[in-house]
Amino acid sequence: MRILLLIITFFLINFCRGQKVDIIPQPVSVQKGGGSFTLSSNTVIAVRDEGDRKAAEFLNAYLQEVYGFKLDIDKQEGKNYIRLYTRKFIKAPDKDAYSLYVSGEGVNIEGDTYAGTFHGIQSLIQLLPPTDVRGLMKRADGKSVVTLAVPSVAIQDYPRFKYRGMHLDVARHMFPVSFIKKYIDYLALHKMNYFHWHLTDDQGWRIEIKKYPELMTTGAYRNGTIIGRFPGKGNDNTRYGGFYTQEEVREIVRYAADRHITVMPEIEMPGHASAAIAAYPWLSCFPNKPTVITRNTPATGGNQGIKRVQETWGVFEDVFCAGNDSTFMFLEGVMEEVLALFPSRYIHVGGDECPKAHWKICPKCQGRIKEEGLKDEHQLQSYFIQRMEKYLNSRDRVLVGWDEILEGGLAPNAVVMSWRGEAGGITAARQKHDVIMTPQKPVYFDHTQTRTEDSVTIGGYNPLEAVYAYDPVPAELKPEEAKYIMGAQANLWTEYIKYPSRVEYMVFPRMSALSEVLWTPKEKKNWQDFERRLPVQLKRYELWRAHYSNAYLGLAASVTPSPNNTGVLWKISTQHKTARITVQRGPSAPATAYTKPLAVTASGTYQAQLVYNGSTISSMQQKFDVNKATGKKITLKSAPSPTYPGDGAFTLVNGIVNETGLDNPKDFLGFNGSDMEAVIDLGKPQKINSARLYFLRLPDSWIYRPSSVRYYTSSDGKNFESVISASNGAITERYHELSFSPRTARYVKVVAKNHGSIPQGNEGAGKDSWLFVDEIQVK
Ligand code: ACM
Ligand code: ZN
Repeated sequence: MRILLLIITFFLINFCRGQKVDIIPQPVSVQKGGGSFTLSSNTVIAVRDEGDRKAAEFLNAYLQEVYGFKLDIDKQEGKNYIRLYTRKFIKAPDKDAYSLYVSGEGVNIEGDTYAGTFHGIQSLIQLLPPTDVRGLMKRADGKSVVTLAVPSVAIQDYPRFKYRGMHLDVARHMFPVSFIKKYIDYLALHKMNYFHWHLTDDQGWRIEIKKYPELMTTGAYRNGTIIGRFPGKGNDNTRYGGFYTQEEVREIVRYAADRHITVMPEIEMPGHASAAIAAYPWLSCFPNKPTVITRNTPATGGNQGIKRVQETWGVFEDVFCAGNDSTFMFLEGVMEEVLALFPSRYIHVGGDECPKAHWKICPKCQGRIKEEGLKDEHQLQSYFIQRMEKYLNSRDRVLVGWDEILEGGLAPNAVVMSWRGEAGGITAARQKHDVIMTPQKPVYFDHTQTRTEDSVTIGGYNPLEAVYAYDPVPAELKPEEAKYIMGAQANLWTEYIKYPSRVEYMVFPRMSALSEVLWTPKEKKNWQDFERRLPVQLKRYELWRAHYSNAYLGLAASVTPSPNNTGVLWKISTQHKTARITVQRGPSAPATAYTKPLAVTASGTYQAQLVYNGSTISSMQQKFDVNKATGKKITLKSAPSPTYPGDGAFTLVNGIVNETGLDNPKDFLGFNGSDMEAVIDLGKPQKINSARLYFLRLPDSWIYRPSSVRYYTSSDGKNFESVISASNGAITERYHELSFSPRTARYVKVVAKNHGSIPQGNEGAGKDSWLFVDEIQVK
């Protein structure tokens, strides 16, 4: 027995020798020494100051969870110690600086503040070996045999930004208290200090407010949820909801405070208010007007009242009435309880995406506009936010809102959260307002981190590299303006995120990249070095038993025209340093080693695998339909909208017919209100007898079929002749096709007319419709 234990001990120490210092976020300064400290179950955490006890307990909880043992906490250090010491000698109060020294005898962590010392604990955790030792045995006395080598280092460190945040939407989908705590732990492990908790929205009210019980009995539940991507393939007709009790909220706020994290609640107003209105219809401009049920979201049955908690996603016109003083009395009543629960100086009131349609026709709202001498409904929104700000300021709190609060005039002391890009943040900083940057690109973590996502996401592509490259301080700001940028935050909206495992998959590893954006000095940021440290971080996620995306280490594909335009090339790549790529030209074709981009000259479903240590760790497939247009030269008369540029004109002849709708927006060229005209050069005169144009039809997302499609041929590319056929061609949900008697041509022109403005009675009525095209086939 003793021999076995010795071997295990030796193995562990041996494994850890020569360990690199792979801390994320990268500290300000790291000097490596020669030796190491051996942390074992005999090590004592010395805490002289009770203010550091929570940090010691955090370390203990981590050691217990990940390595299966914990340490004694004592006031005195003996030999073999981890000593925590908070100077409270605060040179830079908002910096939370710490230093960390590891020598053969022990570990010294000294913080300027308790938060600083706590951050030092996080760096120590990352000096521990990323090895799973949980299966190893304990000694007869119950003590662990595990010893952990901590490399000798001297670290000096402090954060770049004072606001380092992560957001979580619990309205669209809700997560258990145990997971909220885990999420807060993830923030702590990344040295983040704000948790933005999005507690109310159209699809559910999630915080107990004792004064208004209907918020819990009615507002917290919806009768169903759309199936699949908006606008949905039906309704699951399953009641969904719940709320956090005040006791649970207090527990979470305390849990976060022990980790030096502030929980900033968000109570949405004046829009995204359907759940509150379902509970108290008098909050609406039109209490007797039934909730509009979006088409394609079949209404559930049940005996709900006239107003309903929404079962689909989007932006809704039924918002809080700004003309009714009762609305403000209600919101102040809600806030009174919210403020008692959340000590946060910052209170988020939403303010985004508030349609003005009801305000325009509501006598009370119009009365308010007159009475207050406001110019329009934007100023009415500004009035709304300013009135709430007065209330919050009078209670010593600061109002935070999404960048729409700029419209109609910013409340005097408001903090702006810039999400529609950075423009709102830049404007606010120039008006000397504090700003938190959360631009959709690249810090909306509900967007995908892979081009080949196989489950439904909200769309958009924010890969790890883009998150890492983000700088919260826009280059155009002068230094005296830049100082208003408090920091940044990633947002996680949960329409398509139902479970904790999915939350983890969406945030990791992007949250690690963001932590470096927020913490590490700009000049120390280094993608190559982050990439080097990433595999160790992925091992840590495994120690935490956290799900994560390996998109970055998986397969990536791109399609380009072949050099002689005889087809297309399928190019596969991986960031994985050692795995091999194999490819197959079809499910039953043999797998061969990938050495160069694959020439796709025949239709079929091509496959690629990433093989590591004999097993497939990632795979992808791509269906190609090869025809006479595939890979040929193509020109467009006018460019698509910059929002939907696809892969340029080549998108239309890349051999790929979109199969997943807007999950892969890159497959499409989008034309907003305009027509598509493309000319394809077949390279030489060819005999052809049919042409087909693929498009997308999603009226609820303003995307319409073309009103007409015409095809023309030419031998010189100048003089085109219209292709006439016996019929007008066939139109389906996905394509228009024309068959004609065989003719010889070198050039084919396709003209698809935009549907024009959206007809009345539809989503977006009166606006320009979109034409989305994805492929042209010529046979
Ligand atoms: C937002 O994403 N509507 C703030
Ligand atoms: Zn009104």
